[in-house]
Amino acid sequence: MNTLVLIGGISRESLNKRFFEEMLKNYVGKLSFSRFEIEKLPYYSQDIESEPLPVVEEFRTMIREAQAVLLITPEYNRSFPGVLKNALDWGSRPYGQNCWNGKPAAIMGVSVGSIGTYGAQSQLKTVCSFLNMHIMNQPEFYGNASVLMDDNGLTEKSLPFVQNYLENFEKWISNKL
Ligand code: FNR
Repeated sequence: MNTLVLIGGISRESLNKRFFEEMLKNYVGKLSFSRFEIEKLPYYSQDIESEPLPVVEEFRTMIREAQAVLLITPEYNRSFPGVLKNALDWGSRPYGQNCWNGKPAAIMGVSVGSIGTYGAQSQLKTVCSFLNMHIMNQPEFYGNASVLMDDNGLTEKSLPFVQNYLENFEKWISNKL
């Protein structure tokens, strides 16, 4: 199952990037992950929406070809980062050509705070619903980085939790395809 992955943390040492890499190392299952680096996209503007920008075309093609979407977000000021919203906006246009339409999707997130990206995910869900993605509502995944990972990667305790989430996502996608 070809799954497009977007990560809202774009810094070199992003905890969310590290979480995704650690998850990949340990994952056994049917999902095949293709990551698009959202920082490559320009700021969305209607002025350039219809220009044939290669990076935007590449992004739209990846969304169209994906059977599912996995969003991994940090929490910035109780919301999700603007760079992720920018990517969602690009995929939603031109008007009438919303590439996200009908995609099964899941949201995970890691932060240093005790509510583990709940605020970010809650707002992100609203946007994804409007874009008519089919968001998996259960199980949820709110990650505190220091509980999930140590210097060696995902801890013994967090591995089954992550694996269970992805197994549920596989089932969610299968039911929607
Ligand atoms: C944060 N951080 C943060 N954490 C949190 O749990 N709730 C929040 O509202 C915020 N707000 C916030 C705003 C801004 C502008 C920054 C830079 C950071 C801390 C955040 O969890 C931490 O920096 C993570 O490392 C961000 O994830 P990435 O970018 O490392 O993947």
